[in-house]
Amino acid sequence: MTPQPQISSSPDPVPQLDLAAQYTAIGGEIRAAVEKVLASQQFVLGREGAAFEKEIASLCGVAHGIGVASGTDALILALRACGVQAGDEVLLPAFTFVATGSAVSALGAKPVFADIRPETYNVDPAEFERRVTPGTRAIVVVHLYGLPADMDPILAFAKARGLPVVEDNAQAIGASYKGVRTGALGDAACFSFYPTKNLGACGDAGLVTTNSAELAARIRTLRNHGQSGKYLSTEPGWNSRLDEIQAAILRVKLRHLSNWQRARQTNAAEYTRLLNQIPGVMPPAVPEGFEHVFHQYTIRIERRDALHQFLNERKIGSTVYYPYPLHLQPLYASLGYKPGDFPHAERAAQEVLSLPMYPELCKEQIARVVECIAEFMKC
Ligand SMILES: Cc1ncc(COP(=O)(O)O)c(C=O)c1O
Repeated sequence: MTPQPQISSSPDPVPQLDLAAQYTAIGGEIRAAVEKVLASQQFVLGREGAAFEKEIASLCGVAHGIGVASGTDALILALRACGVQAGDEVLLPAFTFVATGSAVSALGAKPVFADIRPETYNVDPAEFERRVTPGTRAIVVVHLYGLPADMDPILAFAKARGLPVVEDNAQAIGASYKGVRTGALGDAACFSFYPTKNLGACGDAGLVTTNSAELAARIRTLRNHGQSGKYLSTEPGWNSRLDEIQAAILRVKLRHLSNWQRARQTNAAEYTRLLNQIPGVMPPAVPEGFEHVFHQYTIRIERRDALHQFLNERKIGSTVYYPYPLHLQPLYASLGYKPGDFPHAERAAQEVLSLPMYPELCKEQIARVVECIAEFMKC
């Protein structure tokens, strides 16, 4: 008998994100929640949305939650409610997803960028002091990758200047800073429930949290055509309502969020333990008193593009969030910034790489990712 040829099985791919694994676990709960909304035939501004608003407010320890159609809309409406108008300047970090800046631009206001701290990728509070002008009307702070920004100096600066602070909490639901949840730190905070987020809808969805009854009322008006009463519009607004099906799905997922968060943190600890043994790779920093929720697990490495390709060839997912700092986006060419203006943001854009991260990721997969990185570092 001829011996069978040995088929060498290559290791399984490790995706950057595996939403199917989540759906396999909780699909039944989600379908039941959707079915309930379908049976009610109430699709907009109903019971699910109202309950979800309360649940997120309670998670953050704030008085109000206002559901909207996306994280970008949450930023636009929160900034407008804080008084931002065309021609105003708004301070924000240069290193973030473009929506942080485009929300400012959507109001006709001017984004004024600030550099980041190289070890956390979040804004350097001292930079706000440098960039503020008499035209500054508000500050947007981003908790990038799931790590809170250093809020104490930012809040002190904002208070001294009488400027409202809007948190872009799109990536950091559940995180905390010195014992206070993100979402409860600024005057208002904006959440995205884009499907890939730590709490992700099956479509677009967003929300604003605030302790201010006045801001909450204004955002409720703005999200619904500026109507402060039935068919009574008091100012120009938008249609940016959170729909009932998304709210019902998000309520199901919210019940799992703290477990998922713990799993992400365990996975991050395992990555960091293994990566600490590889010189030349910088794992994410988590300063004392900051709780990171690892929306992304982002490393820093000089030969980033080569590693990205090396992992790709071995079917290991990795993504560059973000390859262009905002001041160098073609979108903002007219603002006149140039390379070198924000050196830390520019270097981060060249060196960061986000590795596979999701609650269902297992130890063996993490070990495989790190083995590949170790192999790359030897080349
Ligand atoms: C930091 C940041 N800000 C804003 C947004 C915008 O959220 P959305 O996509 O829900 O509009 C996102 C997510 O995409 C984000 O990551």
